[in-house]
Amino acid sequence: MKNKFYITTPIYYVNAQPHIGHTYTTIAADVLARYHRDILGEPTFFLTGTDEHGAKIAEKAKEEKKELQVFVDEVAEEFVKAWRALNISNDNFIRTTDEKHMAAVQKALRYMYDKGDIYKGSYKGLYCRGCEQFKNEKDLIDGKCPDHKTEPEQMSEETYLFKMSKYQDKLLAKVKSDELKIRPEGKKNEMVSFIEKEGLQDVSFSRKNLAWGVPLPWDASHTSYVWADAFLNYLTGLGWKGPKDKCPKMWPAETQLMSKDILRVHATIWQAMLLSLDLPTSKELFIHGFFLADGQKMSKSLGNVIAPQDLVKKYGIDASRYLLMSATVFGSDGDIGWQKFDEKYNADLANGLGNLIARVSNILEKDSIKVNIKSGNDQALKKEFGKAMQNLRIDEALKILWGKLRQNDEKLSSAKPWEIKEIDAKKKILEPIAQDILNVAELLQPFMPETAEKIIKQFSAKQIKKGESLFPRI
Ligand code: MSP
Repeated sequence: MKNKFYITTPIYYVNAQPHIGHTYTTIAADVLARYHRDILGEPTFFLTGTDEHGAKIAEKAKEEKKELQVFVDEVAEEFVKAWRALNISNDNFIRTTDEKHMAAVQKALRYMYDKGDIYKGSYKGLYCRGCEQFKNEKDLIDGKCPDHKTEPEQMSEETYLFKMSKYQDKLLAKVKSDELKIRPEGKKNEMVSFIEKEGLQDVSFSRKNLAWGVPLPWDASHTSYVWADAFLNYLTGLGWKGPKDKCPKMWPAETQLMSKDILRVHATIWQAMLLSLDLPTSKELFIHGFFLADGQKMSKSLGNVIAPQDLVKKYGIDASRYLLMSATVFGSDGDIGWQKFDEKYNADLANGLGNLIARVSNILEKDSIKVNIKSGNDQALKKEFGKAMQNLRIDEALKILWGKLRQNDEKLSSAKPWEIKEIDAKKKILEPIAQDILNVAELLQPFMPETAEKIIKQFSAKQIKKGESLFPRI
């Protein structure tokens, strides 16, 4: 049977507008989805969406003096628009305020409650609203959450708890054996040592004094913990209606993408919920790097937040996709900024890809040289590229294609066909270069869909013509 491919991004909180961090994850998921869907021809499902409940969002709506549903509708629409503007090919956009999602969350929690995996108790401890997570003293630096630089609030209330401790051994075995793969390897080791050292405690799964959430079906004075509600999007986004439904055909996900900020909850609470629901755990959690903007964390107060629409305005859709995907090793943190983007745009796109195509097509047209080149002709390149993609080395896959382009650039510069008179001799130099350009363009489709299509069209003609300038210099 053919492999299937289900890929997810985290669902993003709607307390902030889409920024380049969300954009990075979403484009990466899109590139992988397009690779599996269009190049490998596998049944593929790509899910993204928005996380719209919880204290943080309720607070933000209040600050903006907006009615809650109106507020979340507006911001969710900004995410939809941003992804449309970047040519993102998601198969669904899930929102946690969607009624069908909420109904399924209620059924799932009911199932866990009836099973005895959710029980009434009380919780006393520290809560960071920014993370929407409970914190141990150990997690804090100078008493503050290291991610949000705020002091968590003391919370003490009646709550329903999820018996996560029950699943500790099962989960640890799955992580260790790679039945649940956590990648890169270093992140797996971190999670193994976390579970071994700290163990899995039961977690508070409901809030009594927070109306903005999914009411518990057996006690409407409580709403669901926002993460419990949010995680289930990965199932409801596939049309799952609750535990009575069969496991969706596309579940488990081949890859769940995210950054390190939310690995721990995904590796513990989410997987334990799946076990409690008698569903398979995820196949893989892949943790990509975290972006800093010119060395600093992006934040509104620092004024260094880069919005996806600013990128698109400056570089266009495909160049923006390229710049983000090539910015850093996928899986390592990286520093980004406008100057770096400008330099890379000029080097790789204007002078690299764009210039090579212009030089080759120019002579071919001017001298009316007809070439005979074929689609899908470089199996070695396809294999090398495929290996990088299967290992989620997205940046490496691009490097492989650009290596090929550079080789051809050098060939062209040293053979100097423009100084040669005989047409046949010129053709002998240019034909293999044109062939390599077509080979590269075919693999570039998942990254730069529109550009690749243009190049493929241009280089599939018997008489290749000079096209429009693809990437004008900045
Ligand atoms: N709503 C939760 C996720 C629930 S999933 C069931 C959440 N939302 S978030 O809006 O804060 O998104 C966090 C994710 O956005 C990160 O894990 C990462 O995928 C992406 N990024 C946000 N900022 C980022 C960077 N600066 N760099 C790279 N990716 C980042 O957490």
